[in-house]
Amino acid sequence: MSTEAASTPAPPGPLDDAEYRYLPGLVRAYLIVLPGVIRNPPEYFVQVARRYGGVVTLSPRRIFLVADPDGVKHVVQDNHTNYIKGPRYKVLKPLMGDGLFSSDGELWKRQRRLVQPAFQKKHHPRMAEIICSATASMLDRWEANAAARRAIDARGEVILLTLEILLRSMFSGDLIGHEPVLREAVIEYEKHMDLVGAVNLAKLPAWFPSAGRRRFQGAVRTLEQFIFRVVKERRRTQTDNGDLVSLLLWARDEETGQPMSDRQIRDELMTMLQAGHDTVSDAVAWTWFLMAKHPGVRDRVEQEVDSVLGAQPPQFGDLARLPYTDRVIQESMRVYPPAWVFARTPVEDDVIGGYHIPAKSLVVISPYVTHRLPELWENPETFDPDRFLPERSEARPRFAYYPFSAGPRQCVGASLAMLEAQMIIAMAAQRYQLAADPGLSPGLKPRISLTADCTLWLTPVSRARAAREP
Ligand code: HEM
Repeated sequence: MSTEAASTPAPPGPLDDAEYRYLPGLVRAYLIVLPGVIRNPPEYFVQVARRYGGVVTLSPRRIFLVADPDGVKHVVQDNHTNYIKGPRYKVLKPLMGDGLFSSDGELWKRQRRLVQPAFQKKHHPRMAEIICSATASMLDRWEANAAARRAIDARGEVILLTLEILLRSMFSGDLIGHEPVLREAVIEYEKHMDLVGAVNLAKLPAWFPSAGRRRFQGAVRTLEQFIFRVVKERRRTQTDNGDLVSLLLWARDEETGQPMSDRQIRDELMTMLQAGHDTVSDAVAWTWFLMAKHPGVRDRVEQEVDSVLGAQPPQFGDLARLPYTDRVIQESMRVYPPAWVFARTPVEDDVIGGYHIPAKSLVVISPYVTHRLPELWENPETFDPDRFLPERSEARPRFAYYPFSAGPRQCVGASLAMLEAQMIIAMAAQRYQLAADPGLSPGLKPRISLTADCTLWLTPVSRARAAREP
């Protein structure tokens, strides 16, 4: 331990309060912190950060919340080599293996070099075509709902849409005929990706052969068998379709010239399937909900979309001319950041914000909390897209807002996610207003992605009809 770390105090926190002081720290953490974390983790973390500051002890020497922008910058950027994903991310291994999201060290570095080129902007026009055609089919389907004034399950719709976009962009023609089975498999394994469940002590141990676990394993097997089959066939025929499988298959490490193994390709594709559609679905569903609750915002999106696109489908190049729509999505991800929490394990003792953080502890980082700190955001609970106007953003620290994290492990799919969200929101706004029941008031269901705790039922009203019956 460095002398600096050894002589610095632990961060303050709820365990400093007088209650149960006679009990050991870990027991106090169970009694004082755990109930809040299980009841409503995002809101509990906001409460403790507002009360104790941007670096908080949740369990003595074991678990810390870091929400202050300088602290977050220190962990994910300035001293990132000291902060690994570590053993806690093992829970994702059955699904993601050694993919980018869950790996560390040299393996992560090598994979990032290989995978990153697949997400370069030069691939976006092709992605935009896939997004556009899949979104148009979804919006066509909504005609029947609009005619019958029947609500859609907003998140459910975007889950299917983003899954279709990902599967098509990964496998292109090889997908034909397999889509329903693969879609079902993804939806099945998703039911098991529950973050709160992962820390629930009453959960069955990992080796216990429960029916749910068997269904999870079956779903993973369906997907990986399909991936292995496609990869094998592509290697045999030397096909390069320009899709994600091809980009990964033909990628070569610029330092060693090595390709990826089939196993590694499987891990990266499973990682993207998981990391790449739940999050986008929540971002879009929350944005629609917020637009429905703020008609003034919705009207401005419609005006912008009408003046830039008219009734034409958006091309990739149009998106830069939709700055208000972009601000609405940014603000929606401030209020409801899909990746509301992530974590790191310090390899060595460290000091954050003047407090001692021991090696091997758990450092919890939450965009949800930082995005609501009153010292960074005026009226943080208010939905106000114009707070992202350049002139109102200048003075804000870089790490006041990080829905995609930042630094070397920033989300590799960030610009793809924004492309998807912008196109889906713009295309839906061309045709429909989405109306929410006045009583719809969702709470939070913090899975790996931040989901509403109830179905977001929204009724599509065709724009022509909305203009006739304001
Ligand atoms: C609104 C949508 C999205 C949000 C909010 C989001 C957010 C994030 C965040 C915060 C991280 C860092 C997590 C950590 O450090 O523990 C991350 C990592 C990652 N994301 Fe995303 N993501 C989104 C969409 C996507 C998409 C569309 C893809 C790919 C198709 C993707 C693939 C990944 C991968 C592979 C990583 C791991 C990167 C690495 O560690 O090198 N994400 N994402």
